[in-house]
This record gives sequence, structure tokens and C-alpha cells, in this order.
Amino acid sequence: MKILNFGSCNVDYVYSLDHITMPGETQNSNSLKLFPGGKGLNQAIAIARAGSNVHFAGCLGDGGEMLKDILSESGVDLSLVKTVTEKNGHAIISVSKDGENSIILYPGSNAMVTKDYVDEVLENFEKDDIILLQNEISNVDYIIEKAYKKGMCIIFNPSPFNDEIKKVDFSHISFLVLNEVEAKAVSSSDGVDEGIAYLQCTYPSLKIMLTLGSKGSVFIDGETKIYQDIFPVKAVDTTGAGDTFTGYFVSGISKGDDVSTVLKRSSVASGISVSRNGAATSIPCIAEVDKIIQNNK
Ligand code: RIB
Repeated sequence: MKILNFGSCNVDYVYSLDHITMPGETQNSNSLKLFPGGKGLNQAIAIARAGSNVHFAGCLGDGGEMLKDILSESGVDLSLVKTVTEKNGHAIISVSKDGENSIILYPGSNAMVTKDYVDEVLENFEKDDIILLQNEISNVDYIIEKAYKKGMCIIFNPSPFNDEIKKVDFSHISFLVLNEVEAKAVSSSDGVDEGIAYLQCTYPSLKIMLTLGSKGSVFIDGETKIYQDIFPVKAVDTTGAGDTFTGYFVSGISKGDDVSTVLKRSSVASGISVSRNGAATSIPCIAEVDKIIQNNK
């Protein structure tokens, strides 16, 4: 069984600030650093560092050389990546001294994913292969439709939430990985519990991996709910923490590990990433994660 991550890659311009800038306010930044990022790239690297083989598909644009380098150094298969002349996608990220962030995205190359390219990529996969998607590239709804017709197992992280997600047929999805804000948005609900209840009622076979910020995470499959606490750390930069969690989750599920083990590893990996700067650069390898789990037994 193969894993395909069809997603975005960004150059992250990370500005370190005292606090997140308020509307109408101007403030100086303390530093500017460039990091590889993008939800697709981050999650592909997390899957690879969690010990699984993963194919990455997506459009790399002008200025995206460092993105290709980190993907390849991390062991991600890049044979399906398309190079385009468009400027590479980027993100402008503010990080406060408490580790909170706010992000502006410029899609660039990530918006160049065409239906023809999707068809070409999916020819390399078959029934029961896993496909992981986020919402930072064009034609996500088309990819889901085609992957479903092939019988692939679709894992969807509806992030960032925007109107494009309304085109997605959620009945085609096997696993939904999302946070509380996204749970309310995809279900058009005011509350998280209400949103999850709506999703379960509307899509009874959907498995839901809900992250709850500082309250941990919960995996929901029908009547079964498995909770996991966070791995507490001093927050340096929360960027990419959700991507680290998702990548570890996908790797664990693909290996057939029991859900409690998958959640434990995902939570520790995501905690470690919060204690470091950057998104992709902060993702730990599985040996480091397992050592911490052993030491905390
Ligand atoms: O999830 C974090 C990522 O979101 C960043 O790396 C940034 O590129 C944006 O896509």
C-alpha cells in the first residue's frame, strides 16, 4: 500500500514579534527568518520522519529550490512533482513571544495544480492506497472525486478552511483530521460537539481525528472515542504543530498501529515541534519521539 500526499509547498517568511499585530497597528519585527513550509510539504516530511515511505505531488515554482532540497533530504519521493514557472507559493508568518502565530498565504505555484496533472499523478496509484490532502492547492474537490473512484483511502485535513471546501463531497472521505475551528466551519455549527455530532450523523462511516489545542486530541469512530493529552513543552513556535500531528497520524494508521499508540506518538511529535522554530525544520524523527515516550513511562 502506497501513501500519496498531494499538497502545497511554501517558503515561510517568519517574523518574530512581541505580539501579533492588531488591526490599525504598526510594529517593528525583532527578526526575519526563511523556512521551508506549506501544509503539504510539512505533512509529507512528518510522514517520512515517522518512518513511512511517502510520494509527494504538487507544483514547485520559481524560488522553491530549498523546498525540494528538504523534501529530498527527508526521504520523500519527488518523482511526481511538477515544476512550473509561476512564483512559488509563500507564507508571511508572524510569531509572537508566546509562540502564537498568524499567517498570510500567497498561493502562487500551489494554485497551478490542473485536472490533467491530477489525472497523471493518480495513474500511479490504486485501490486501498492512501491519499492525504490539505486545502492549499487548486482542484482539491476534483482530486477527492478521482481518488474515490479509484477506491483510495482518502485522509483530508480541511485546512485552511475557505469556500473551496464547500465543493468537497465529504461522503468520499475515510478520515477527517481537523481542529476545533475547522470542525465548526465544515459543519456550519456554533459549537464543536454539535459540529462533530452533525458530521457523524451525516457521514456515519467517517473517522474523525480532532485536535483540541492545549486540551489534547480525540479520535472518534462511531461510538468509540480515544483521548490523548498533549505533550507539554515551552512553546517557541506553534507553526506546523498540526502538520506534524497529521503526518504522524497518517504514518501510524498506514502501518496498522493501534490508535492509542498512533495518538501518543502524534502528540509527542507535535509537542516537540512546538518547542522549536520553523515548521518543517521542527519536525522530529520517530527515534526521538519513541525515546521520549520510553523515558516518560
Ligand atoms: O501549517 C503551517 C503552514 O501553513 C506553514 O508552513 C505555512 O506555509 C502555511 O501553509
